[in-house]
Amino acid sequence: MKAFRAALLRFADDGSALYDEDGLLVVGPDAQGGQVVRAAGAWSALKDNYPGVAVEHLPGRILAPGFIDLHVHFPQTDVIGSPAEGLLPWLENYTFPHEARFADAAYAQGVAEVFLDELQRHGVTTPLAFCTSHPASVDALMAAAQRRGQRLIAGKVLQDRHSPDGVRDRTEQSLVDTEDLIRRWHGQGRLGYAITPRFAPSCSEAQLRGAGELAARYPDVWIQSHVAENRDEVRWALELFPDARSYLAVYDGFGLMRERAIYAHCIHFDDDDRRLMRERGAAAAVSPTSNLFLGSGFFDYEGADRVGFRYGLASDVGGGTSFSPFHTMLAAYYVGREGQTKPGVSLKPGHLWWQHTAGAAQALGLDRVAGNLRPGCEADFLVLNPGATPLLARKTAQARDLDELLFSLIVLGDDRVVERVYVGGAAA
Ligand code: GUN
Ligand code: ZN
Repeated sequence: MKAFRAALLRFADDGSALYDEDGLLVVGPDAQGGQVVRAAGAWSALKDNYPGVAVEHLPGRILAPGFIDLHVHFPQTDVIGSPAEGLLPWLENYTFPHEARFADAAYAQGVAEVFLDELQRHGVTTPLAFCTSHPASVDALMAAAQRRGQRLIAGKVLQDRHSPDGVRDRTEQSLVDTEDLIRRWHGQGRLGYAITPRFAPSCSEAQLRGAGELAARYPDVWIQSHVAENRDEVRWALELFPDARSYLAVYDGFGLMRERAIYAHCIHFDDDDRRLMRERGAAAAVSPTSNLFLGSGFFDYEGADRVGFRYGLASDVGGGTSFSPFHTMLAAYYVGREGQTKPGVSLKPGHLWWQHTAGAAQALGLDRVAGNLRPGCEADFLVLNPGATPLLARKTAQARDLDELLFSLIVLGDDRVVERVYVGGAAA
């Protein structure tokens, strides 16, 4: 066992942020041999309970859960910052041509290391990632994460139509490949598999039906896709599926909405869609830097909370512009504030942080496992330096309460704040 004494940020069951100015985090093995949080709380309350355990004192630092990125594309690491008139031209002109390169396993292996390095530098310890349609891209990313002992959920993209040569897959083979990848990777250590229909316009009915059958056969496997991101995309989806009540209802019709199903964007929704999300236990991956960069729209937090479905934050790199959870939380604040096309809300900093940690874990059905510093959670945590830059040092020194401290970090923070990252109890 090992202990760390510093300020400590964690979350209560109701999502509120808990903070100990002088805290203690105790890490040690669980019954399965993984490294987990054994205790977390005020140093004064816990200090006598662990005699003989070495304590590393980190004055002026904050211990916080590793971030979870609920939606990110590993093969779009080099697509960041590609401008386009909107989602569909961006896919056609930049994304699909680039993703075609991942047919080459060696290329995919190289980018997988860069991708995981970038996430780690920014304090993300659990990504839910799209690979490409090439099974080798999944093998590359899973193997890289396995070597690092990190938590990762990922899947092979399904796209058997309206996709160019080089990324388009074949219906039957795509489903065989998906099942083979589930068998080989899901549940290996901390790896999980996500069935990954790219979006309804790129998948035939047969492919969506097959994906839904796999989702029923493997109920603890995740599902990830995109929905209601952009008005042109919504119109196209409804032309292709004229009998569906809405774009979201297409996925429901194929059995692709359930617990552990994560849908990116969820912007152009009505209340029936919101109720469907709630009733099925599906969750939204809110991707604000992507939505701002591609001009897609603004996630409606008021609508989500009024109806009551799950959501969490995501970078959506490479539509998104940054791997940094700090940048994503700030963009989510801007998106929440926008009050011309939907009700504007002022999201609290603790709530923004929760969406990228414990809230995202809840969306994944991993709330006792990841995204928090409570006993039993995996020991994925960060040492943050609130004085990492001159301005941040001034601001955080003046903070009068937790809200002011967290807002300073969200607005001014980036990878410089992330001083150390612990993955499964080991410094990475
Ligand atoms: N819709 C279908 N594919 C994609 C993608 O790669 N990125 C985003 N943002 N939306 C999509
Ligand atoms: Zn995406």
